Amino acid sequence: MKLWGGRFEGDIDPLAMQLNASINIDKRMWDVDIRGSVAWARALAKASVITKAEANEMCAGLQAVWSEFNTGEFKIVTGDEDIHTAVERRLGEIIGATAGKLHTGRSRNDQVATDFRLWMIEAIDLVIKRVDLLQDSLIAKAEAEFDVILPGYTHTQRAQPILFSHWLMSHFWALERDRERLRQTRARTASLPLGAAALAGTAYPIDRVALAHDLGFVIAAPNSLDAIGDRDFAVEFLFDAALIGSHLSRLADALILYSTSEFNFVEMSDAYSTGSSLMPQKKNADMLELARGKAGTLLGYLTGLMATLKGLPSAYDKDLQEDKAPVFAAFDTLDVMLPVIAGTITTMKVNRGRMLKAVDASLLATDLADYLVKRGVPFRQAHGIVGRAVRLAADAAVGIDQLSLSQLKSLSESFDQDVRSVFDPRLALTMRDGIGATGFESVRRQIESAKQIRVIDESHGDDYYWHRRQIERAKIMQDAS
Ligand code: ARG
Repeated sequence: MKLWGGRFEGDIDPLAMQLNASINIDKRMWDVDIRGSVAWARALAKASVITKAEANEMCAGLQAVWSEFNTGEFKIVTGDEDIHTAVERRLGEIIGATAGKLHTGRSRNDQVATDFRLWMIEAIDLVIKRVDLLQDSLIAKAEAEFDVILPGYTHTQRAQPILFSHWLMSHFWALERDRERLRQTRARTASLPLGAAALAGTAYPIDRVALAHDLGFVIAAPNSLDAIGDRDFAVEFLFDAALIGSHLSRLADALILYSTSEFNFVEMSDAYSTGSSLMPQKKNADMLELARGKAGTLLGYLTGLMATLKGLPSAYDKDLQEDKAPVFAAFDTLDVMLPVIAGTITTMKVNRGRMLKAVDASLLATDLADYLVKRGVPFRQAHGIVGRAVRLAADAAVGIDQLSLSQLKSLSESFDQDVRSVFDPRLALTMRDGIGATGFESVRRQIESAKQIRVIDESHGDDYYWHRRQIERAKIMQDAS
């Protein structure tokens, strides 16, 4: 059964048919396609385009098709160009001629855009759950290893002592922005194309606002051309995914470095490592390398779809069929990668001894300058004095904490006996207890606020400010129409 055979005399070339068909990719939208059709059947009946009895017959038939998909019994046959064709074909086989009325006033153009949005809204909810899981593992690790101190790095050079929890939480906050972004993408996705028909809007008196609400959308899309040609939601999702990929990659890259024998700060559990087929001693952090590698692939999905969209005129063009593969692939990647990275974090062993040992006295050079500042030395000058102390120590091949008081005094009279206490990294941490700093108290507060933010999200559900704003906007547009 072709949905468009009437005006054709000849048959389509088999390879052209293969190129044209999208069923292998879009079949995973069977559930949302059927839900969309059930809602459309009801809307047609409400508008008295079909009878209630016909709508009931359609809905029962669609339910039967749904069950076939659900149990895996559904058979895709040659000619099932896409999921929309397949479902309608099967509905016809089950309920007969009435099935032919389902597509009244509807086009696959508004149908596919509706299905895809419905699918994506659910996918976003799942990705948010996976992000949650990783955030949980970061918080749990930050609490379990709370007082572990390690060098913080800039330019991959040892810089200043920080809490390992602070480092873990730095990745938590990046993911928190990802979660926000996903929710905003979700809100923008909840705009219903159905009723836009092929391009000009449906000719039947469909209540599109009721239809939108029936399907869980916030708004009926306000322009039929835009409604069927808009794939911004897919691009946004791919951007969200690519940025999550980038965040995971940065987390992974640091952990790969930290797990080398040279660093030996952390050890990945066997559950998240693999070996070498040649070198028996090897234990590789492959999951982290995959996170880093897939960040590139995720970015490719985004740029690919952007490139597809850029030259298109408004409304639907077949180019748009290219939209689903990258979105599905990005979802599948995150669906597996986020839990794997969460597991990697949860199970990794933290070598607190190795980390602390790497915190040599030079990391406290800034604190030494601050010591002088407290004694009235202007910071610029203090910076120079400590710099000379660092060189003096390097020349003598000792740490700056090994310089004698008289050596220090030769650089500045402001040094005194109590300078020794500067070389305790715990003191350096205690000094940094302002908002966002790495001190014990501030990291404790950070973890606490991270937990509270997420409780608020849970208790408010979708009723966060952004969603409320969308509802307000929807009201304005609906009142105007
Ligand atoms: N399989 C198509 C897609 O995924 C459905 C829409 C086709 N519409 C059309 N007029 N050919 O985009």
